[in-house]
Amino acid sequence: MYDMSSPLAKDKKSFFDKLLIRFHKNASHSNRIAILSRLFTQKIQELAIQKETITLLDIGCGDMKITKILAEQNKNLQTTGVDIYPNTRNWKNYVAFDGRTLPFTEKSFDIILFSDVLHHDYENLDQLIKEAKRVSNFIMIKDHFEYGFFSRTLLQLADIVGNYGYGVSIPKRYFTKKRFQELVKKHQLTEIKQQCPVYLYNHLPLVKYIFKGKYQFTSVIKT
Ligand SMILES: C[S@@+](CC[C@H](N)C(=O)[O-])C[C@H]1O[C@@H](n2cnc3c(N)ncnc32)[C@H](O)[C@@H]1O
Repeated sequence: MYDMSSPLAKDKKSFFDKLLIRFHKNASHSNRIAILSRLFTQKIQELAIQKETITLLDIGCGDMKITKILAEQNKNLQTTGVDIYPNTRNWKNYVAFDGRTLPFTEKSFDIILFSDVLHHDYENLDQLIKEAKRVSNFIMIKDHFEYGFFSRTLLQLADIVGNYGYGVSIPKRYFTKKRFQELVKKHQLTEIKQQCPVYLYNHLPLVKYIFKGKYQFTSVIKT
C-alpha cells in the first residue's frame, strides 16, 4: 500500500545541499517551527492531562527545535527526541533509535509527536504507529494531505527544498484523507480531533496561494 524507499541521512553535504538548506531556513523553516510549536502547545493543553509532569516523545525530532520550544512553552512538559538522523546523537534529551523499535517500556509517555515524519517513512509506517501506541496514551500527528497529481507534485517540490539537503528521502505520495482514516482504523485508534487546513506560509507572498492550508493537517489520537 505504501511505496517509498527508506530515509537516508547524508554525512557529507555538497555545496548544493548547503545552498538548499540555507534557502529553506531563510524562506520558511523558522516560521514553520514557530507556528507548529504554538499549535502543538495548544493541542497539548486541550488534552488537559492532570499530571504534575507530562512526558512527550518527539519521534523524528530532526534538529530538535520543536522539541526544545515545546519544553520552553510548557513548563510541566518533559520532552525527549528520537531520530534516525545521526547528527543529533550528542544532543541533550536525545535517545538513539533504529527507526523501528522504541527503546521504551509500555505507556512510558503521555504523548508521542510525529511532526512531518510519517510521510518520510511509509515503509515503517505501521511499525511506527504500533510502537507509538505501545508506549504512549496520545499520538499527535502533523502531516500532509494530497488531493491528486498537482498537490502531490507541489508537496514533493517543497519536500525537496526542505529535506533533500539533509538526505531525507522524498515520498512518492502522501496521505489522502481516506488513507489516513484507514490507518487510524487499522490500528484501532480513536481520533479525538483533526485540524485541516493549517496555514504555515501566510507570511510568504505568492507561496501562500500555492501551498494551500489544506495540504497540511494535524490529528490528535487516543491510543
Ligand atoms: C521533515 S523532518 C521533520 C523534523 C521535525 N520533526 C520537524 O517537524 O521539524 C523528518 C524527520 O523524520 C526523521 N525520520 C524519518 N523516518 C524516521 C523513523 N523511522 N524514525 C525516526 N525518525 C525518522 C528524519 O530523519 C527527519 O529528521
